[in-house]
Amino acid sequence: MTYKSTIVPLMRPSIGDEEAAAIAEVLKTGWVTQGIQVASFEEEFAAFVGAPHACAVSSCTAALHLALLGIGVGPGDEVLTVSHSFIATANAVRYTGALPVFVDIGSTDYNMDTDLLEAAITSKTKAILAVHQLGMPCNLEKILSIAHSHKIPVIEDAACAIGSEIFLNGGWQRIGAPMSDAACFSFHPRKVITTGDGGMVTTRHAELANRLKRLRQHAMTVSDLARSSSSAVSLESYDELGFNYRMTDIQAAMGRVQLSRLPEIVARRRALAASYEALLEGVPGLAIPRESDWARSNWQTYCVRLPALINQRETMQKLLDLGVATRRAVMCAHREPAYRDLKPRFPLTNSEYAQDHGIMIPLFGEMTDANQKLVAKALFKVLTERA
Ligand SMILES: Cc1ncc(COP(=O)(O)O)c(C=O)c1O
Repeated sequence: MTYKSTIVPLMRPSIGDEEAAAIAEVLKTGWVTQGIQVASFEEEFAAFVGAPHACAVSSCTAALHLALLGIGVGPGDEVLTVSHSFIATANAVRYTGALPVFVDIGSTDYNMDTDLLEAAITSKTKAILAVHQLGMPCNLEKILSIAHSHKIPVIEDAACAIGSEIFLNGGWQRIGAPMSDAACFSFHPRKVITTGDGGMVTTRHAELANRLKRLRQHAMTVSDLARSSSSAVSLESYDELGFNYRMTDIQAAMGRVQLSRLPEIVARRRALAASYEALLEGVPGLAIPRESDWARSNWQTYCVRLPALINQRETMQKLLDLGVATRRAVMCAHREPAYRDLKPRFPLTNSEYAQDHGIMIPLFGEMTDANQKLVAKALFKVLTERA
């Protein structure tokens, strides 16, 4: 990808020579699909987040699909989640044949308004799919407490939240630690670490992890790695309908290097977010994102809210003219044509407002002080002129 040198880009993945060397080593071995690198990446990822089990897959969408299937979600069931998320969240529910039922987000952040959750539960509710939007932890403590009282499993869509932390059970936990039934991560290049594409499920349930490991490779009972490393002939069977959701060893080798750099990547992003907080103070009418005292974001994305009467698209164009790339805030699945037949059960006022008034501004590791000042100055100029 190339960037116009005069524009501050929204993001840039942090990939170095070490990743290239790790991939080259895999190529030399001749084993390029799911094998020892994937197994090692799973072990290291699980240890990093503090989970007993991890299962690597081809994307977070695949991770969500498998995790939902794995806890028994299927046709006729309902899954409570948010519309204000990348469409993959709701799509994964629909892949299982279940219905996503959307709960609105809060008015000051981009996560589920947990005050609305309990009233949305019905006899058909089979699971809660809690999203840590843009890397900011959602109120998992409250979601888990409601879920437990109704005996409903919880899956976390942690696509954006690798390296984010939450204060729960008396201490700081990394997202992916065994708090819910399973957490699903993405390694798409827009995320804080990448494998090109890829995903991971972490879980406290050994049986679930083993089932997902079968489902990701056509539900085959013997993996390629197990077969090829055994001295005895083994014949596999296919006991249920599976998928090809494998991660390759090429991706996993890159992921292992990226994971080793994650603490440094997150620390840098947190420092940049803290600078933004100071720089953007006083920009007329601009609402900046804030952490609750129980949340530490990895700041995968920094999304600000424009004042109500300011036109989002016009503002984004003016910022681009001043050398700052931005993106519209997170979408709402229920507003897309693919969801036209699925009428929301509840008002989604805050979700729609956030989509229409939020803009994502640049934040990436190599961002300089000058880049950040340019972004702040541009926002100040555009919003002062419009105020
Ligand atoms: C909240 C959320 N869930 C799921 C996904 C899907 O991730 P992937 O592209 O790895 O399938 C994304 C990707 O942007 C996301 O932001």
